[in-house]
Amino acid sequence: MKPIPVIAIDGPAASGKGAIAQAVAESLGFHYLDSGAIYRATALAIDSAGKDAGSPDLLEADAAAIAARMDLRFRDGMVFLGERNITDLIRSESCGTNASKIAVLPLLRSALLDLQRSFRRPPGLVAEGRDMGTVVFPDAGLKIFLSASVAVRAERRHKQLMEKGINANIQNLLSDIEFRDERDRQRNVAPLRTGSDSKLIDTTALSLPQSVAAVLKSYALDVVI
Ligand code: DC
Repeated sequence: MKPIPVIAIDGPAASGKGAIAQAVAESLGFHYLDSGAIYRATALAIDSAGKDAGSPDLLEADAAAIAARMDLRFRDGMVFLGERNITDLIRSESCGTNASKIAVLPLLRSALLDLQRSFRRPPGLVAEGRDMGTVVFPDAGLKIFLSASVAVRAERRHKQLMEKGINANIQNLLSDIEFRDERDRQRNVAPLRTGSDSKLIDTTALSLPQSVAAVLKSYALDVVI
């Protein structure tokens, strides 16, 4: 039986992964996995359970147990933890930072693997995050690594937050992004890195439609349908 196709899109914070992956999924009629939302929701679930996701004293076993039993659902473009709609809540910078902190815990990462892989359903999946091509879907037919200068990424994140009515300082965003990239790159388990079999696309000078077109072109060229 032919495996269900997967396009893995990895890259650093605010590299445009979300918007690009969603547009690619839409254009191919594929499902979409925002794995960062799972890490963000887990950070929130840990806080809701009375622990502190941002604390260095957080116990790995506690965090992994919460990740394994949380009732997380994606419905109609929204994210629910139990009955609570956490779609907007998980988009804050502090939730992103806490997600990056708990993401260093190997047991927690393992506890989230099955959930991420359950998104692989016909006719196909576009999955975005940090380790989609290296760990979660190592057999993905196309692996993309997105990059963009940190200044451009801070500008894009700033615009995104302003559009949501959230005030943000571009200089703070830039240093948050740099810190988060560093932690995501340096961790021992599933670090952010360009896999040897992934295709690098630098979106610094590309618009969203140009970036989407670049991924679709790679898919048409690389994958024999
Ligand atoms: O993509 P994002 O900014 O929403 O991700 C938030 C954090 O979650 C990111 O800084 C690190 C972690 N993460 C991860 O470790 N692995 C993934 N596949 C996705 C996110």
